[in-house]
Amino acid sequence: MIRAVPLADDLVLRLLDAGDAAALAAAYVRNREHLAPWEPAREDAFFTEQGQAADVDAQLASAVSGASVPLTLEERSTGRIIGRFTLSGIVRGPFQSANLGYWVDGARNGRGIATSAVREVLRMSRDELDLHRVQAATLPHNAASQRVLERNGFERIGFAPRYLKIAGRWQDHDLFQAILHD
Ligand SMILES: CC(C)(COP(=O)(O)OP(=O)(O)OC[C@H]1O[C@@H](n2cnc3c(N)ncnc32)[C@H](O)[C@@H]1OP(=O)(O)O)[C@@H](O)C(=O)NCCC(=O)NCCS
Repeated sequence: MIRAVPLADDLVLRLLDAGDAAALAAAYVRNREHLAPWEPAREDAFFTEQGQAADVDAQLASAVSGASVPLTLEERSTGRIIGRFTLSGIVRGPFQSANLGYWVDGARNGRGIATSAVREVLRMSRDELDLHRVQAATLPHNAASQRVLERNGFERIGFAPRYLKIAGRWQDHDLFQAILHD
């Protein structure tokens, strides 16, 4: 069971909730330009409460199946969502592995928020989800994201040509992993 975890500055890292659609739509509207170069291309409907409600339903269904752990970073005093951190593609058996994706509100960048939230996600992955490994993929020029990974002990393990469709194009990625057990 994943419990909500308080971080610094009035922030809490917690599981996505069925009631988050309106706050998420507002967050994606605020961050549309900030996220566009780094995320899949989004239809206009994605930026509406209805669009987010459908996305939240899909994410929660995936979480119930054990394939993902969708987390949000909420500012407690305002109820604003200022980031998301998602473990997806969880595979058990001898792999015990997941992929990690994330973003932080552009107005809050450069304050160590992603670094501390990823640290907490790795702790959860090891102690509460019993994972062995977390993988992350970044565009080769995403220096800020790579810094977040390096500061959390991720190692670059390779280069994947045309790996993910980001901003409408199949783009090359650098692959990183964090091993959670000795
Ligand atoms: C990447 C992202 C999550 C970082 O969030 P953040 O809260 O600003 O991250 P932090 O403050 O914890 O750390 C950022 C680090 O990158 C560094 N950094 C920022 N911009 C940089 C740049 N252009 N070149 C090099 N380093 C950079 C910062 O200095 C900081 O490192 P430091 O603490 O050693 O000084 C945020 O910018 C974001 O959401 N970007 C858009 C979506 C995205 O790229 N998601 C990841 C996809 S793989």
